[in-house]
Amino acid sequence: MRRIFVIAAAALIFAGCGSPKTEAEKFADKLLEKMTLREKLGQMSQFRPRSGVVTGPEGFSYNLEDMIKAGEVGSILSLREMEYFEIYQRMAVDSSRLGIPILFAHDIIHGCKVIFPINLGSSCTWDVEATRQSARVAAVEASAMGLAWTFSPMCDISADPRWGRVSEGSGEDPYLAAKLSAAMVEGYQGDDLSDSTTILACVKHFAAYGAPEAGREYNTVDMSERMFRDRYLPVYQAALEAGAATVMSSFNDYDGIPASGNRWLLKTVLRDELGFDGFVVSDYDAVHEMVNHGVAADGADAARLALEAYLDMEMTSGDYINHGEQLVRDGIISEKHIDELCRNILVAKYELGLFEDPFRYGGAERFARETYKPESIALARQIARESMVLLKNEDSVLPLKEGRKVAMIGPFLSDARAMNGTWDGFSEAKRIVTIEQGMKARFPEDAMTFTRGCDAYNHIEGGVEAAVRAARAADVAVLTLGLPGNHSGETTSMTSVELPQAQKELLAAVKATGKPVVVLLVTGRPMALESVDGLMDALLVVWHPGTAGGDAVADLLSGDFSPSGHLTMSFPRCDGQIPIRYNHKSTGRPLNKELDYTQSHKAKKNYLSSYLFTPNTPLYPFGYGLSYTEFAFDGLEVLDPEVGTGEDVRVKVRVSNVGNIKGTTVAQLYIRDMVASTTRPVRELKGFERVSLEPGASAEVVFTITADDMAFCREDMTFAQEPGEFGVWVGESCEADLEGHFIVRE
Ligand code: NOJ
Repeated sequence: MRRIFVIAAAALIFAGCGSPKTEAEKFADKLLEKMTLREKLGQMSQFRPRSGVVTGPEGFSYNLEDMIKAGEVGSILSLREMEYFEIYQRMAVDSSRLGIPILFAHDIIHGCKVIFPINLGSSCTWDVEATRQSARVAAVEASAMGLAWTFSPMCDISADPRWGRVSEGSGEDPYLAAKLSAAMVEGYQGDDLSDSTTILACVKHFAAYGAPEAGREYNTVDMSERMFRDRYLPVYQAALEAGAATVMSSFNDYDGIPASGNRWLLKTVLRDELGFDGFVVSDYDAVHEMVNHGVAADGADAARLALEAYLDMEMTSGDYINHGEQLVRDGIISEKHIDELCRNILVAKYELGLFEDPFRYGGAERFARETYKPESIALARQIARESMVLLKNEDSVLPLKEGRKVAMIGPFLSDARAMNGTWDGFSEAKRIVTIEQGMKARFPEDAMTFTRGCDAYNHIEGGVEAAVRAARAADVAVLTLGLPGNHSGETTSMTSVELPQAQKELLAAVKATGKPVVVLLVTGRPMALESVDGLMDALLVVWHPGTAGGDAVADLLSGDFSPSGHLTMSFPRCDGQIPIRYNHKSTGRPLNKELDYTQSHKAKKNYLSSYLFTPNTPLYPFGYGLSYTEFAFDGLEVLDPEVGTGEDVRVKVRVSNVGNIKGTTVAQLYIRDMVASTTRPVRELKGFERVSLEPGASAEVVFTITADDMAFCREDMTFAQEPGEFGVWVGESCEADLEGHFIVRE
């Protein structure tokens, strides 16, 4: 955080001294001199072709082609037909007065043609490098289609699985999400935006979109500024520090002001504090929606609010192009202000090299060469494998022993859409390996049967009976349960994240056969599984694993690879525990870990921060995940037990594979600031490393905790560390009990 304050301060000083303009800025200034006000407002407007993906109201009606020719379309989103990238670009370049190229954008969230696991799944790999590479692959494929801009990474953290968009983020923890979001930016943008295989990243949704009241989509966000700065802002900030060129404002209001008209968020925090100098696009129709929010009287008023908040480009609602000229004529907004915002967009186009060659990306030949490359599919399979989290494995029922008969059961066996989950716009069904296909490719044909059992939400005639027959005839039953692919992502909020009733009944019937039961949980969000946990002998969360998902499932079930994923969101016991996060505060009456909450209630009320009938802890905690082998952690040593303010603390630990096969775990380090000027989380992740070990082997891991890692929003709202005592824990989840301490002196 401090680093960026310094950058921002330096930027202000330079600006004050009239810092030399970049080539891009000089170019944009010259172009602005030639542009009419309407053309400037056009550059600041993004539209959707009629066939594009709709994620909101239809808005005002327009003829896209006429507007392109009139130079009124700065950007197009969600174009699906490849040939139109060239058709529309040619229209803009050849037929509009100044020939300014169009910026084509799309939601390439977890892959373009090759689909990687949903982001929440990918985050469970804790694999920063693989995440960077997946974004790189997505950028290469997307640019080969003609795209220059993706609306990703989503940097919204969330502790609320009722909110369907948790699938698009990296979980509940800001430290991990920051690292992964930054890696995605690097993957998309590379180090040269003018390279024809790199695209603009977009940090979204600014800000705090992941904390809607009651988990309901688009709902009000109200949190303290301290909470925002401590827990939410660092993720956006890390992605910006990685160089993200654009930002998307969110749908929600924050502290009573909708984000798209929130000058404090978009100007004070984003530009002045964080030093962001790219451009901000609104979310879909979000400018006009300020009328519904009740802070704008009409479209003109909404445009005014957004312009005053320094929102550069409006997505779809058309309020800039429809009302901007009048606002300037009436002296409400100055043309100089419009120039300032429009310049940011022209600079981005210049840096992409669009003015030099507007057709620099696509082309059928490049597209054929660079999409679905075998190495991209192999990466998707690797990430899918690493993303799957083994939560339970009683009597080592997994991996499946050779020669055993397996009854594969459940609604998602051959469901390609369930492999992809949300935002899979360019994926081709024929390229997706379903679970059934993956298993058939790996196991002998006579080793398994496939029975649907039920639909996602409903019984099918004879389904349960057929599943029971199949289980009886087999040695083990493997059930694919969970949620359909389109029930994660935008507008998929749920009031319950338990398994649907029909699936619960199927599971209970199969369990009653007495055969061991393995559940493959297909889901885009944590689910509340306590009521069915006893019916599962093994539980592997496979998420929506993407193009190579079925192969990755077979990789793990066969034992060719050992699971290595670790949860990045807590799995609650029941809906009532939501929102739930590991990094909660202590409260004045914390529930002692050793205290049996039920016993204490039976005896008499315990007057502690607890529930009457439910523990505080989740069913499966943040960071948790098993493998087919076992790891032991010991020898924790704080190498710098006493340091001065600003100094690093190193912590050493030994990790050993004490099982019989090769495996990978994620070593995690947590700290607690014991006494501070504000209440601090009981634990906070501040380091992690994937460790792969042969059986019997050990490795030493050294973590470095920096002063920035200890910094927080102090009582006086400054962001820095405070001297004092810290606790430190290392292990395989947030419940790690290997403990140490260190002291930071004044
Ligand atoms: C609305 C979503 O909130 C946002 O994430 C997405 O990028 C836009 N629609 C464009 O599709």
